Amino acid sequence: MKNLFFLFITFLVLKSEDSFITQYEYGQMLYNNPRGIGCVHCHGKDGSGALIAKYKEDGKTKSLRGPNIRNKSIKDLKKSLFKRHKVMPTYFLTDSEIEALAYFLSNKGD
Ligand code: HEC
Repeated sequence: MKNLFFLFITFLVLKSEDSFITQYEYGQMLYNNPRGIGCVHCHGKDGSGALIAKYKEDGKTKSLRGPNIRNKSIKDLKKSLFKRHKVMPTYFLTDSEIEALAYFLSNKGD
């Protein structure tokens, strides 16, 4: 009976670890859905950059790209997120959300 109880507790512990998301998954979730337009639309699936639009200017085709933002420091991310840009929106994310974003953008998924 004691053994059975122990087994049950072990099962509960393993089960609860299962339901927590990792810092990487949390960062990825915020990256895709940061209370605003997802970073993914302009910076690509993993932050390495993406084409936003092509347009013509003085007869020449130009392209607007979201830059590579992988491996940025938390400080750099903060600066860009709170700033007013021409293309990129301003975001209001908390410190721990920005830390998770930085973690996601600096690590490879499994
Ligand atoms: C509508 C498109 C768009 C979205 C959405 C967007 N960005 Fe950007 N981002 C840009 C563009 C374009 C630039 C470069 C020009 C500028 O500063 O506006 C940029 C610049 C940056 C930079 C500075 C890069 C450098 O090398 O200086 C960082 C960091 C960044 N974005 C992070 C993010 C994060 C994190 C998100 C989501 C929370 C996000 N961006 C959402 C378009 C976007």
